[in-house]
Amino acid sequence: TVAYTPYKVKDISLAAWGRKEIELAEAEMPGLMSLREEFKNEQPLKGARIAGCLHMTIQTAVLIETLISLGAEVTWSSCNIFSTQDQAAAAIAEAGIPVYAWKGMTEEEFNWCIEQTLFFGEERKPLNMILDDGGDLTNMVFDKYPELTEGIRGLSEETTTGVHRLYERMKKGTLAMPAINVNDSVTKSKFDNKYGCRESAVDAIRRATDVMLAGKRVVVCGYGDVGKGTAASFRGNGAIVTVTEIDPICALQAAMDGFEVKKLETVLPKADIVITTTGNKDIVRGEHFKAMKDKTIVCNIGHFDNEIAVAWLNNNYGDTKNEIKPQVDKYTIDGKDIILLAEGRLVNLGCATGHPSFVMSNSFTNQTLAQIELWNHTNKYENKVYMLPKHLDEKVAALHLEKIGVELTDLSQEQAEYIGVEVKGPFKPEYYRY
Ligand code: NAI
Repeated sequence: TVAYTPYKVKDISLAAWGRKEIELAEAEMPGLMSLREEFKNEQPLKGARIAGCLHMTIQTAVLIETLISLGAEVTWSSCNIFSTQDQAAAAIAEAGIPVYAWKGMTEEEFNWCIEQTLFFGEERKPLNMILDDGGDLTNMVFDKYPELTEGIRGLSEETTTGVHRLYERMKKGTLAMPAINVNDSVTKSKFDNKYGCRESAVDAIRRATDVMLAGKRVVVCGYGDVGKGTAASFRGNGAIVTVTEIDPICALQAAMDGFEVKKLETVLPKADIVITTTGNKDIVRGEHFKAMKDKTIVCNIGHFDNEIAVAWLNNNYGDTKNEIKPQVDKYTIDGKDIILLAEGRLVNLGCATGHPSFVMSNSFTNQTLAQIELWNHTNKYENKVYMLPKHLDEKVAALHLEKIGVELTDLSQEQAEYIGVEVKGPFKPEYYRY
């Protein structure tokens, strides 16, 4: 096991501020708050020891306290070295919850933090549930502590990149427990990835650089869910947006949405901002950096930093690196400056505070339902990747309507029969794409 450290945060005296922000966020997270109400007597997570690895933000604090209010014990680390909000981590630590997270940690500290979450309390009881975002906790358990997998009932995974890793494991036969793909609930990827980035992409650029966005030329690499939200974010602020894509369907979608679709090489010389959203590697490479104009801002909003050749930049031009402020660095390439944000790590959590609470409530309500399902019904599942059933997806959405004054139309029995659904839903067949 690992020696007991009750918690590790940047500054515990930030707890009071964090608590006030958590209280504000609760009012914007109706899905999580209604699960607290619905399950307060039943305590469906009683006995669960959930290790979580997900950006330690204010919104995540509301998730953590929801899991605890349903009976779970929880330990937490952040899934990115820059994404922790130190006041959120402090408030969670102050509440007696073992959290290991601070903004601006090293890679070694990052792994140390995840490792702390595997064992609970002074008795060092091992985790029995995983809640992950990107798969780093899952990989640590599977690869470094395989003896722990037997005692774990299941795992739920938050993001596209982590989900890819799970399907790969399933194919190779190395998935040691049932998993729920939270990302592909409609109320997650079609909301958090899209509408979340529509708010937080521009927020990141503004907080980092204060640059005027209207009239600027922005290249968004990738037009999946994150790309769609990111492109809309810049367009909404008056920027001229070009998209790059490899997939003809997404390329055509971008074109139909009114974006120019080009190769990166074609548009680079005029680009003011380049942002990657692909979840793929090697998107912005050395030759691209060399083709950029002076003061181009380069950043990534995908899960990992390997979308941008940061290593190439450091190897070749590291001596020109000039920190403007934390997470904003200027490099000079053959006389031209480029501004790299968050060292190429996901910019909305590195340079801003991630998505707003309301959209995260949708994602985290899915997470909570996935944990309840796997903890209580693990025997129903094989070591495969599953999705939450559609009626729960619809439930997550339903829990978020009242807050924003949505009136839902009632379906009549006759209408329901005519379109072949039940009056109480699900309202769409499985193959429907939204
Ligand atoms: P997605 O699969 O819907 O979209 C990715 C798109 O990139 C696809 O359309 C794909 O065809 C395209 N693509 C792949 N290689 C490309 C290349 N070489 N050039 C141009 N386009 C290329 O995935 P999604 O959900 O949009 O997620 C993207 C990344 O963002 C993932 O790493 C995910 O984990 C992460 N993510 C980040 C969030 C944040 O808040 N920063 C929120 C949600 C997801």
